[in-house]
Amino acid sequence: MSGRCPRTRPCAWAGLCVLLVLCWLYVFPASRLPGYEEILDEVSRLGPVWARNRTGIHVYRKLLTDCCDPRRMFAVTKENSPIGKVLWYDGELYHSHTVSNDTYPLFVQDNPLRLPLKKCAVVGNGGVLRHSGCGRDIDDSDFVMRCNLPPLSKEYMEDVGTRTHLVTANPSIIEKRFQSLLWSRRAFVDSMRAYGAGYVYMPAFSMRPGTEPSLRAYYALADASSNLTMLFAHPDFLRSVGKFWKGRGVHARRLSTGLFLVSLALGVCEEVTAYGFWPFAAGPDRRPVSHHYYDNILPYTWFHAMPEEFVQLWRLHTSGTLRMRVGQCPPRDQGGDIKIPQRHSRGTIG
Ligand SMILES: *[C@@H]1O[C@H](CO)[C@@H](O)[C@H](O)[C@H]1NC(C)=O
Ligand SMILES: *[C@@H]1O[C@H](CO)[C@@H](O)[C@H](O)[C@H]1NC(C)=O
Ligand SMILES: *[C@@H]1O[C@H](CO)[C@@H](O)[C@H](O)[C@H]1NC(C)=O
Repeated sequence: MSGRCPRTRPCAWAGLCVLLVLCWLYVFPASRLPGYEEILDEVSRLGPVWARNRTGIHVYRKLLTDCCDPRRMFAVTKENSPIGKVLWYDGELYHSHTVSNDTYPLFVQDNPLRLPLKKCAVVGNGGVLRHSGCGRDIDDSDFVMRCNLPPLSKEYMEDVGTRTHLVTANPSIIEKRFQSLLWSRRAFVDSMRAYGAGYVYMPAFSMRPGTEPSLRAYYALADASSNLTMLFAHPDFLRSVGKFWKGRGVHARRLSTGLFLVSLALGVCEEVTAYGFWPFAAGPDRRPVSHHYYDNILPYTWFHAMPEEFVQLWRLHTSGTLRMRVGQCPPRDQGGDIKIPQRHSRGTIG
């Protein structure tokens, strides 16, 4: 009797139902994710206290090195992608680019980052940065990474800083904002001056339509003798980082650029601080926050899994592996942390 079904049909239906529920939970694991109120409680409870966890930092560097080898693989280089090498696009099923005499000269010789990097700042573009006063904090880092060519004009300086060592650029931005560089390239070259002499990091070999705009961006900068250096994200690196986080419960079709950068930073930096990551419509002070620090245009929500990603980052914060700034940065003369507007405020600990 036990374990056997007298009739097969109800059994099949029951099986199907279980399967559907499991699929539902897999796609919408909302029940496992802490929500805004829970996170807010934790922000208040932890207050300004945060202690670096050297074990955690070491563990994550090792995990990321083992899965994804960021030091060697984060960018396409002459060393890891010689002529004839087949690069499989990570955002397409069956599409590849074979490194040729045309593309090989566009790659840097070797990993250009002078490792290990000490203090890294990964700056997301969240509206939570507005009025944060984090600009000086960010600029004090040794290596500043930014996402998707964000505006760095004077009006934002106090909140987001001015220095950039690496900035990502999605090919879709090149298409939308600069007409795929098929017309004038000057607007692009001029706007890129904001990023000084850093690296531009483009996923040129992720989606098929992204390759041409990326190569054009390379030539636009090279022809203008720009001080910027173009790096193409290695599709194997993007794929392996995606797998790494999928194994930790991030069910997105694609990871956000922010989580890629944090993963890179965890792999190559001694200390990581993340700014501007906050996926909720209200801030830690319960005031409404815009989607970006510079606008309030919402993204396609189905594409990325922002709250899931945030929870991963938040866990790393609470374990001391990286530090998240989710409120105001302390004034310069104090060594404190996030300012919590109400409830249990504690003394400031650096
Ligand atoms: C430090 O990190 C390790 C590894 O991630 C973790 O097991 C440990 O609980 C963390 N320590 C604290 C105090 O959170
Ligand atoms: C690539 O170019 C070099 C010299 O520019 C030439 O010797 C070589 O044969 C070319 N290789 C291919 C595969 O075309
Ligand atoms: C590159 O940097 C130098 C020195 O900071 C500056 O004078 C020059 O205008 C820059 N070039 C471009 C194309 O931005």
